[in-house]
Amino acid sequence: MSSLPRIAVLASGRGSNLAALLAARERGELPVDFVLVGSDKAAAGALRMAEAANIPTLALDPRSYPDRRAFDLDLFARIAASGAELLVLAGFMRILDGEALAPWIGRMINIHPSLLPKYRGLHTHRRALEAGDTEHGASVHFVTAELDGGPVIAQARVAIEPGDDEEQLAERLLPLEHRLLPAVLGLLATRRLRWDGQAPRLDDQPLLTPLVLNEQGLQTRE
Ligand code: GAR
Repeated sequence: MSSLPRIAVLASGRGSNLAALLAARERGELPVDFVLVGSDKAAAGALRMAEAANIPTLALDPRSYPDRRAFDLDLFARIAASGAELLVLAGFMRILDGEALAPWIGRMINIHPSLLPKYRGLHTHRRALEAGDTEHGASVHFVTAELDGGPVIAQARVAIEPGDDEEQLAERLLPLEHRLLPAVLGLLATRRLRWDGQAPRLDDQPLLTPLVLNEQGLQTRE
């Protein structure tokens, strides 16, 4: 087994954020070992991408379990069995059971396409447009039992332009997501970033406001 931090990724869809993680590793910017890519959708593009990269995959169908908790307990048991130390939700579109995820508190991050705490849940681009916001973005946060509610680690921002529609906004945001997620995973994997239930700590200092992604990478807010 490699000595690099062992990472599992869960994704329900096309997997462009997974692709960004794999590309960062290829460039030598993310020294981790991807030990498993799992999905609740057997047809997820993310699974094909993982297969092409020789990463073990797992597809579990929620409909073959009696309830959400049973599915999540099995999913997390299999992730633990893969040897993963950290877990990344990269477009995993399911609500997680609090008891099942408890062992992963502080070791699981999620990327969400809004400037949390705004717009938890679905249709974030549409809701930002409908609210008349002038700015939108994406957040990476530690996962807790509260949907999209764990401490926010870092955010990337885009301006909303007059005439933007959902697709245009999503398209402009996605490349920023692809820089944000590998950057945050890098901090966690190198143990510069930690969270034990109090304020997250970066380099042993409390992280009181989310990091901001700019041209240089992640920065503390001025
Ligand atoms: C991304 O935009 C991600 O932020 C979002 O799903 C998309 C997945 O795209 N996640 C959520 O909405 C989680 N609530 P991808 O499959 O191309 O990475």
